[in-house]
Amino acid sequence: MTTYPHTAALMQRGTDFLGCETAIMCGAMSWVSERNLVAAISNAGGFGVIACGAMTPELLDREIAATKALTAKAFGVNLITMHPGLFDLIAVCRKHGVTHVVLAGGIPPKGSVEAIKEGGAKVICFAPTLALAKKLLRSGADAMVIEGMEAGGHIGPVSTSVLTQEILPELAADHLIFVAGGIGRGEAIASYLEMGAAGVQLGTRFACATESIAHPDFKKAFFRANARDATASVQVDPRLPVIPVRALKNKGTEEFTAKQREVAALLDAGEVDMGEAQLQIEHFWAGALRRAVIDGDVENGSVMAGQSVGMVTKEEPAADIIAELMSQCEAALAR
Ligand SMILES: Cc1cc2nc3c(=O)[nH]c(=O)nc-3n(C[C@H](O)[C@H](O)[C@H](O)COP(=O)(O)O)c2cc1C
Repeated sequence: MTTYPHTAALMQRGTDFLGCETAIMCGAMSWVSERNLVAAISNAGGFGVIACGAMTPELLDREIAATKALTAKAFGVNLITMHPGLFDLIAVCRKHGVTHVVLAGGIPPKGSVEAIKEGGAKVICFAPTLALAKKLLRSGADAMVIEGMEAGGHIGPVSTSVLTQEILPELAADHLIFVAGGIGRGEAIASYLEMGAAGVQLGTRFACATESIAHPDFKKAFFRANARDATASVQVDPRLPVIPVRALKNKGTEEFTAKQREVAALLDAGEVDMGEAQLQIEHFWAGALRRAVIDGDVENGSVMAGQSVGMVTKEEPAADIIAELMSQCEAALAR
């Protein structure tokens, strides 16, 4: 069995916390991070995380049970904080003895961190700033993910390189901080571990693993794409907020810009009120990730991908991706 002594030493706190062999988390990706990919990642020594997304408690219940049937290893569940049934979803995780719950999508609502911890699970939160990281750790979060704007999916405004410099020197000695966003190779993992990170989280690099159920056309779009194709959505009108999402440029992203202009014009003409205008913008992408991942509509759907997409060139088993990342990291640390 290959060993990675330098890497293992720096990942020790992360692997102890996650209960797996490598402190490489596969970030939850809606529609992609279901039983097959999650189990494959965990079976390969990484840490898989189920993306609950908009699932009902019943669906999550089934997904966790199905994942447990495929792996005896630890895995987590990612819950979106604004899900209307958040506390019911927490209860489902508790029923299954899920060991780690990741809270994504904003500041956790009152009582949610406590509810997870009462069930005995660890809580992992996302921190977009140093101040918020400190606040979340004070409120009981056991670990943090700091994610830069290079990442695929919903993003903040700051790059991974700056976030890590702001947060790791301040918090990493006493807290468990996992770094995400733009990681495609093990050398980058080595650099964040040397800065004090307990581990890393990758999404884009794992989205096209052999075990990922993403549509073959979704995977092909990844293999064809370069870093510069993974662009953040742009807000056209200051009155109509757009939460930035990083995805591959396509017909849908162009039409989204046109849609914003059209809605702004209707607003100016008094033909729609502000509420209706904002709703039209919000609803534009409804179901769009599913269209891309499951149906393979990579022209109109949302092909969420991070800037590391240029380093995804072929379908590979999750275990091979993890082994490659670990050996690149080990070689860099040994140097
Ligand atoms: C297709 C796709 C879907 C994603 N969906 C989610 C999600 O549902 N919840 C979440 O917290 N993060 C989501 N993410 C972010 C990932 O969990 C992860 O943090 C991110 O991909 C890491 O950055 P990287 O893409 O540069 O590796 C998604 C990312 C991608 C590429």
